[in-house]
Amino acid sequence: MNTPFLSFNHKQIKQLTLIGFIVAFLVSCTKEAQVTTHNFNKGWQFSKGEITAAIQPAFNDSAWETINIPHDWSIKGPFSKDNPSFSRGGWLPTGKCTYRKTFTVDANANEHKVFVYFDGAYRNSTVYINGNKVGFRPLGYIGFEYDLTKFIKFKGENVLTVTLDNSSQPGSRWYSGTGIYRDVTLKIRNKTYIPTWSLYVTTPQISKNKATINTKFKVTSEFNKAKHVLTKTSILKNDKVITSKEDKLTISKGINEEFSIDLDIINPEFWSPESPNLYTVKVELFENGELIGTESTRTGIRTLDYNKDSGFSINGVQTKLKGVCLHHGGGPLGAAVYRRTIERQLEILREMGCNAVRTAHNPFSTEFLDVCDEMGFLVMNEMFDEWEVVKEPATTQNGKKVRIPVDFYANQFKEWADKDLTDFVLRDRNHPSVIMWSIGNEIDQMKTDEGIPIAERLIDIIHNLDYRPVTNGLIGYGWDAWPSDEAAATSDIKGFNYIKENGFVREEALFPEAMGIVTECASAQSFYPRGTYLYGAQKKAWWDNLNYESKDAYNWVETRGLIGERGYASWRAVKKRKGVMGQFIWTGFDYLGEVIPFGWPARSSSFAPIDLCGFPKDGYYFYQSQWTSKPMVHIFPHWNLEGMEGKEVAVYAYTNGDEVELFQDGKSLGKQSNDINDVEYQQWKVIYTPGTLKAIASKNGKIVAEKEVKTAGKPAKIELFARRSNLKANGTDLAYIECTILDADGNVVPNADNLIEFKVDGVGTLIGVGNGDNMNHDSFQASSRKAFNSKCLAIIKTSEKTGDIKFTASSKGLETATIKFITE
Ligand code: GAL
Repeated sequence: MNTPFLSFNHKQIKQLTLIGFIVAFLVSCTKEAQVTTHNFNKGWQFSKGEITAAIQPAFNDSAWETINIPHDWSIKGPFSKDNPSFSRGGWLPTGKCTYRKTFTVDANANEHKVFVYFDGAYRNSTVYINGNKVGFRPLGYIGFEYDLTKFIKFKGENVLTVTLDNSSQPGSRWYSGTGIYRDVTLKIRNKTYIPTWSLYVTTPQISKNKATINTKFKVTSEFNKAKHVLTKTSILKNDKVITSKEDKLTISKGINEEFSIDLDIINPEFWSPESPNLYTVKVELFENGELIGTESTRTGIRTLDYNKDSGFSINGVQTKLKGVCLHHGGGPLGAAVYRRTIERQLEILREMGCNAVRTAHNPFSTEFLDVCDEMGFLVMNEMFDEWEVVKEPATTQNGKKVRIPVDFYANQFKEWADKDLTDFVLRDRNHPSVIMWSIGNEIDQMKTDEGIPIAERLIDIIHNLDYRPVTNGLIGYGWDAWPSDEAAATSDIKGFNYIKENGFVREEALFPEAMGIVTECASAQSFYPRGTYLYGAQKKAWWDNLNYESKDAYNWVETRGLIGERGYASWRAVKKRKGVMGQFIWTGFDYLGEVIPFGWPARSSSFAPIDLCGFPKDGYYFYQSQWTSKPMVHIFPHWNLEGMEGKEVAVYAYTNGDEVELFQDGKSLGKQSNDINDVEYQQWKVIYTPGTLKAIASKNGKIVAEKEVKTAGKPAKIELFARRSNLKANGTDLAYIECTILDADGNVVPNADNLIEFKVDGVGTLIGVGNGDNMNHDSFQASSRKAFNSKCLAIIKTSEKTGDIKFTASSKGLETATIKFITE
């Protein structure tokens, strides 16, 4: 239950209206309100810097900024060559900061306990309640809970202070963000309660007609005398109870009693990527007929099978993992977690044909896994990027590529790894989307036998808590520095990063019994920014403009070319091997930081077939051609290649048909065949003249898809596209509005860079803008954005008011465009 009036800071107290008081009073009178979880995201005071005095409750924070969680302040910028996060952190600012929240608790000291839960705070968080330290957590990606009860004032105001320290830089190999960037909740519980994460649901027996759901949970009590309680375990589908069971328990003080309850479901609806059916398991505690506590979780009924010969199967259906690695960020919104950002990312990935995500290389938010559960994505849930040895990645600093150690996690590993891993598994193990765990990415210690005892220890921790297999993304297959075979053998499923054909051949010969998965591989995508096709003098000018001292970046980008053949090769090796469970391309979306192979001015990566704003690049259509069956054809480059008149240009096509015919101004340039098992793309040499290119794809002799690319005229209008027009009036729902510049005839103007002004009227706010240009240093928080290669993006956040939102995009010389939303 969301009860916003139960928590507020002193500023808000003054602003509360009479109606607010009445509602608060009514809420506090219900028994249920006293045993519940409150969203604790609103009304925090925030200041950059370490402000020690702010730990004390009496500190006056009224001059601080009032913010709501999720909050990432690094994303506000500015980008600067002087920021010590360097190219690794996208040149964005980092540092220390302090948050405070003043609140009252509507509970009673004799009966209740108070906990605060953070799903993630980046990083080195220390939490204080009323001046007392309750905990420190170095890892910024981990969820953690503190028991505040001892220091809580049940009457009067409480002050929660959180200090973060993200000042040691470069502190990550990619952009991390800084702040309380995921949900915070306040939990008020009866002193007899089910501890967080103790509820664990599995389905030990599944058949077509019946599934047995096993629910384990603990109950503890802090009352001095033994308590007699009744537990009611129920399974719900679409909010309706299907089956339930009651048990009587006696709980003594300080004892964590563990319970295990089996319930059968007749004719279960299975969870699968196509039909992600979810059930809710709810455990209620009653004392003398009165509800004193509830814990619930969602679950999905599915059988998972892992096999060296048939790969991965779900519900008996062999399923190749067509996966992407993702970093945790949300593009222009930085690390701040909004459910809608995740939904949109996964919608775009699904349209590309992707069915699986690897959470590179750290725990993601609970919302992320919730959305994967709801949409049927399969998740490789990964924990570590470093064990005990610090990584020293190539980082651009002062125009030079140097190896700088990142102060990430290696120095905390010995002390924290076991606890962090345990908490990670406990938090995430009920998600049906999670199909395997990963204990690492390119861990240096796995190169030698030094990795064996560490890997074994981590795997044991997981096996003791959960039934799903463990992998570990190792580097070196097919390279000079092969990983230790003995260390690699510790995983249930071998994780191959960047394996090549010869690596598979060796593995198959030496370890025919081993199961394997390509934890990471190159994507079939050029490193040039989206929609960038450069020839001759233009190419030279582009590179001259970047002013790179070394040829390194140029060589790297040019070797990869316009089509990224290494990506084809990795998919080819996986698809022809039935036993290899699948692959995860690096990456699904571009992310901030790790600007390899570029340096300044690049501030985001360019590995992915989808840019930082969610706009597809050409590689996106390669995956669509290989991973989807809905007929499609794509051709590139665009056909506004000024300066290339009379010269030869390579034109490429991707299709899932079996033939493509290319026409230039109505004249056929020939048919080319396609076979997804053997041919990845089609190519024609075309003499460029302004006009029209058209690709017609056919299957079994029938036309199935067409794509036309025309030389566009001058920019004349703006086209707006949003995936939804009905939004939630919850203060956190988002509308992503994609803007495309068209000519007077409606053709996309592929290199248009018009500055677009945005205006939002009604019950929404503009919270982010972007254009997918990985070299751009304009702020993500602005009321205008230049288009980059015809496109830019605006993100609106709803308020809690229902009503209309009108979004207007205008630009000098272009027809203005508007789009409307309703919030309910
Ligand atoms: C991989 C690594 C990723 C990323 C990528 C960039 O080796 O696992 O985290 O750094 O290289 O190419």
